[in-house]
Amino acid sequence: MQISLKGQVALVTGASSGLGAAAAKGLADSGAAVVVNFHSQAGPAEKLVDEIRAAGGQAIAVGADVSKEKEVEQLFEKTIEAFGRLDILLANSGLQQDAAVDQMTLEQWNTVINVNLTGQFLCARAALRQFATQEIRPDISRALGKIIHMSSVHQVIPWAGHVNYAASKGGVDLLMRSIAQEVGERRIRVNSIAPGAIRTAINTKATSGDAENKLLKLIPYGRVGEPEDVANAVVWLASDASDYIHGATLFIDGGMSLYPGFRDNG
Ligand code: BGC
Repeated sequence: MQISLKGQVALVTGASSGLGAAAAKGLADSGAAVVVNFHSQAGPAEKLVDEIRAAGGQAIAVGADVSKEKEVEQLFEKTIEAFGRLDILLANSGLQQDAAVDQMTLEQWNTVINVNLTGQFLCARAALRQFATQEIRPDISRALGKIIHMSSVHQVIPWAGHVNYAASKGGVDLLMRSIAQEVGERRIRVNSIAPGAIRTAINTKATSGDAENKLLKLIPYGRVGEPEDVANAVVWLASDASDYIHGATLFIDGGMSLYPGFRDNG
């Protein structure tokens, strides 16, 4: 199946590195004009924009902290200024601040919840407000708009030492499904992607040397994921090839969420 996102505009938050960067590239390769949002890494974001343009695509880089209401509003204003509409939001920005639960500071808790959960709410709300000003364009998509939330296997797998992160992703699940229930009849599709262990900077330690062998015990499919594994799914979920998929979470985890500890009978 050939997927074309030609004529569509995609906004990817946290796109200066990791999964966001790979997804932005994938969306652009499929024909979408892409807004590459970054928090602090303007350099890598600009570099990605240059790469997309060199390959014949359209992209701009826009800085914004997704946990700040005003900055999110400005991010969407700049998107519309540059490309005139919005079709796809990938709410991807996320971070980890790990600590044992009894050592975790309120600041570590708040930082992770603010970016990973409140940031996704603010971006989804801004996208919905923008979609409300647009009409369906059947020549480019059957949907009025598509929102994809970046979740994690930790929306279902508890994670000791990371309670802020797991709580934020558990929150993303019900945020996504509640929004999907609320706005589906407007022909807005809302879904999540839940990656497992993917080879990105957030995972450098966990995916090298001995740590990688330990990690592989948790992955029935027997390999660490690559950013492109996730980017391909983002492109598909953003396209009409998945037009009847709504309120779903797509786990891209090589089976990490299959309780592999039970392979040998528990
Ligand atoms: C985290 C990674 C982790 C993976 C599986 C992801 O959501 O960001 O650091 O390796 O879950 O545990």
